[in-house]
Amino acid sequence: MDRAPIQDAPQQRWNDYDAPHADLREFVSRAERAGELLRIPGADWNLEMATLAEAIYQGAAANPPALLFEKVPGYPENFRVLSGSTNSAKRLALTLGFPVPRSSLDVVRAYRDRMRTHKPLAPRVVKRGPVLENVDKGGAIDVLKFPAPFLHELDGGRYIGTDDMVIVRDPDGGWVNGATYRSMVVDKQRVALWMSPGKHGRQIREKYWKQGKPCPVLISCGHDPLLFLAAGNELKFGLSEYDYAGGHRGLPYEVVESELYGLPMPAHAEIVLEGALHEGETAPEGPFGEFTGYYAGGRSEQPVMRVERVYHRNEPILGMATPMVPPSDFSYSKCVMKSGMIWDEVERAGLSGVTGVWCHEPGGARMFNVIAVKQAYPGHARQAGMLAASCQSASYFGRFVVVVDDDIDPTSLWQVIWAMSTRCDPATDIEFIRRAWSGPLDPRLDKASSTNSRAVVVATRPFERLGDFPPVVRASAELRQKVEAKFKDLLGKLAQR
Ligand SMILES: Cc1cc2nc3c(=O)[nH]c(=O)nc-3n(C[C@H](O)[C@H](O)[C@H](O)COP(=O)(O)O)c2cc1C
Repeated sequence: MDRAPIQDAPQQRWNDYDAPHADLREFVSRAERAGELLRIPGADWNLEMATLAEAIYQGAAANPPALLFEKVPGYPENFRVLSGSTNSAKRLALTLGFPVPRSSLDVVRAYRDRMRTHKPLAPRVVKRGPVLENVDKGGAIDVLKFPAPFLHELDGGRYIGTDDMVIVRDPDGGWVNGATYRSMVVDKQRVALWMSPGKHGRQIREKYWKQGKPCPVLISCGHDPLLFLAAGNELKFGLSEYDYAGGHRGLPYEVVESELYGLPMPAHAEIVLEGALHEGETAPEGPFGEFTGYYAGGRSEQPVMRVERVYHRNEPILGMATPMVPPSDFSYSKCVMKSGMIWDEVERAGLSGVTGVWCHEPGGARMFNVIAVKQAYPGHARQAGMLAASCQSASYFGRFVVVVDDDIDPTSLWQVIWAMSTRCDPATDIEFIRRAWSGPLDPRLDKASSTNSRAVVVATRPFERLGDFPPVVRASAELRQKVEAKFKDLLGKLAQR
């Protein structure tokens, strides 16, 4: 589904605030004022919340709002669940502090421009914060005091962590990684964590275990959506998601050190679980409905976190991200973020001439990505494709990269398919990358090697033929304008049909 442009007006600043939101609650109230939030009372945690998210995100609305589930049956009235926090161009712009966007590419461009001056900003340790309003210990610990959703009919359990940030400290160097990894409730005091091979949290976990130590962990399950954007996208190893997100905010995050392991938790987080992963301590995890639209990961033994503390605010809001056949309640936000990140990384690698990048939603923002270039030399288009397929933010779970000329809008599947159909010679213009980074969620994984392959489809006019490639059949802008002005009334009536 191509997203419609939002408006034709020039880009505006949000008029009632310039400072970043302090926390998820302030974000929610700003989103509501911008008409970007729908309150839904009475939906059950058991399949209803996720099925509503599916109906709304796959329904007719062009830009569905964020969903705030309230009055969840069986739970205190004000224990809420938020789905789709970042899943529109406007909410993304609100999250990242960009002007009101007119289209998806406005946000991608704003991201790329931001990264030209972006500097990571380390968090500030504070003694107190709202996250300490309630601290549960010992027998009082029950992670099911929150309305953790059971998302899909074939899931293996309730997932408290989907829009989460799993926080671990690298024993070498001491930097802190934050990442979104699914977290399934095993029982009141245990949560299973699924981390794919190669992910930073998993690499760090292995380091502790090699030293014969348990790996201390925090799972933040409701926080500023900017942390979700940082945690759910591949940053370079060694760059803390706190610092990266702080750099976007222009203000350091306030963090409180956790009681047992001294790990930094967002002082304004809604819910944080603290515990440790002990080598050899596992539980069956999954199956889980995944972002590809399949249950490929199945059920497997995964490391379990013994929950030793639960910190939460009064009237907490649990974040929820619901993977499914795209579109989902987070897939659009991934398209925009990934596009901005790939564009930025490709340029940092030294490539010039990129005019747009778009990671398409049917490909889960990973498997069907398009890069547009204004070709300046022979080989330019292939170089763009190879970089867009292999940079850090694109490498995991890639599949197809299509390179198009700068006259093609990379967000328009219609135009991209036209370019592929008319400018690409399959036998000479498709390159393959073999044994690339994928993982068990890939339904088409080569199980013997645990890798997949990539196709880089060069759908640009051949550089040598730029001068004599057949002209495109399209009225010139002047002619189109003149004729449209002359037949304005007729075209206006047609537009209303
Ligand atoms: C909603 C959502 C759920 C995700 N679930 C998982 C997961 O269960 N396991 C995993 O390895 N990656 C998962 N990811 C992808 C990671 O968050 C992403 O690869 C991230 O870059 C990992 O952080 P790292 O680079 O610090 O390892 C998920 C992403 C999103 C947006």
